[in-house]
Amino acid sequence: MLRCVCVGRGRHVAEEHGKTLARDGLATLEWLERYFERVRELPVLAQVEPGEIRARLPEHPPEQGEPFTNLLRDLDDVLLPGLTHWQSPRFFAYFATCASEPAILAELLVAGLNNVGILWRTSPALQELEQVTLAWLAELIGVPAGWHGQLEDGASISTIAGLAAARHTRPDRPVVVCSEHAHSSVEKACRLLGLEVRKTPADEAFRLRLDALDLTDACAVVATVGTTSSTSVDPVAPIADACEEHGVWLHVDAAYAGSAMVCPEHRWAFEGIERVDSLVVNPHKWLLTTQGCSAFWTRHPDELREAFSVIPEYLRTPDAVVSLSEYGPALGRSFRALQLWAVLRCYGREGLQAAIRNAVGLAETFEVWVRDEPGWELCAPRPFSVVCFRREGSDDDNAALLERVNARGEVFLSHTKLDGRFVLRLAVGNLRTTEEDVRRAWDVLRQEAT
Ligand SMILES: Cc1ncc(COP(=O)(O)O)c(C=O)c1O
Repeated sequence: MLRCVCVGRGRHVAEEHGKTLARDGLATLEWLERYFERVRELPVLAQVEPGEIRARLPEHPPEQGEPFTNLLRDLDDVLLPGLTHWQSPRFFAYFATCASEPAILAELLVAGLNNVGILWRTSPALQELEQVTLAWLAELIGVPAGWHGQLEDGASISTIAGLAAARHTRPDRPVVVCSEHAHSSVEKACRLLGLEVRKTPADEAFRLRLDALDLTDACAVVATVGTTSSTSVDPVAPIADACEEHGVWLHVDAAYAGSAMVCPEHRWAFEGIERVDSLVVNPHKWLLTTQGCSAFWTRHPDELREAFSVIPEYLRTPDAVVSLSEYGPALGRSFRALQLWAVLRCYGREGLQAAIRNAVGLAETFEVWVRDEPGWELCAPRPFSVVCFRREGSDDDNAALLERVNARGEVFLSHTKLDGRFVLRLAVGNLRTTEEDVRRAWDVLRQEAT
């Protein structure tokens, strides 16, 4: 592309740029297509040593611009061995994610348009599509109509937004209450906001224990629907009762499991959702979008706006509309609503339900294999698509087993601790994962265990 600069005059630059875009764009899409064809066969967890990739990269930037295709070549030759393949159907670690084709293509358009939503007028379509898309998603997952919705980069930022609004409503109360299984983003948000975290013990199914809920000095409770370790579900409705009684803001972190609410059979986990004050669901975890797509809603937009709105002179306009930048930590927002819109349109309710059900069904199949095999143990109830299990033996034995399994590169799993014990996790979330892939994981586990 730097060749364009050498052309000199503006018209030629633009023409050359257009041609390069189409040619290199096609090469890039072809690269991606080949990648998806072979990704199942690539080592899922990168099999390199720290510093190995860095050592293969030039120490200094080039003086002259290079053709874009050099990048694609280096992607294959230099970077690929150092990638852990999150798009692999055999990626079973953490929460398995999946960037679908509509989301990938929409992200390309987002980049091409490069809209910066600092104000409504800097891209009315960006803001209004975001609002419509969030309302669509709310309808699909059973969030009441009319709530204020916006996209943030991740659940961590959405939780900061929710807790900042909570602090604003109760500045005299410095405590945020959550379960011992709440995600670390809650603690981080509290650190940033000058709030204190009070962790509440969980019950035998890893849900926040109501009888241990202490709301003294609390401005907010964070309930989790789908905790990171075991995907347990805190009881939202009774927590809402307690919050209402004590005038405490209730934020729900459904970063992972919120997407499953497109299926009526999972809606039990959202019982009471209409009474919460704010909510986060990450389509980039389990709803087929690319990274950087976290949906945040609140039924108190005025409080949220009061917590965040700062308008310097250069951003004042006579427009009779409030900009989304007044409702969160960031000023500029990208047009990422386009990728969520693309996913919702190209899959529709039925397609999204099928994706969730495929993942849950495969997790269920794996769970049965573990349950029925002597020497293996299930370690937590499985409400969604994550199975927590372990092999008989010590924590060290299980940790070593996990290392051996991942070192083979055929599958990638991760771990957690439950009740103080080392536990393996198998998380399903990729559209292309089949029973054969899950079977492979089980075979590798059993081979490495003996
Ligand atoms: C329950 C839960 N909340 C929040 C987060 C943080 O999400 P993000 O990476 O989008 O900030 C995670 C990450 O896995 C999570 O599992």
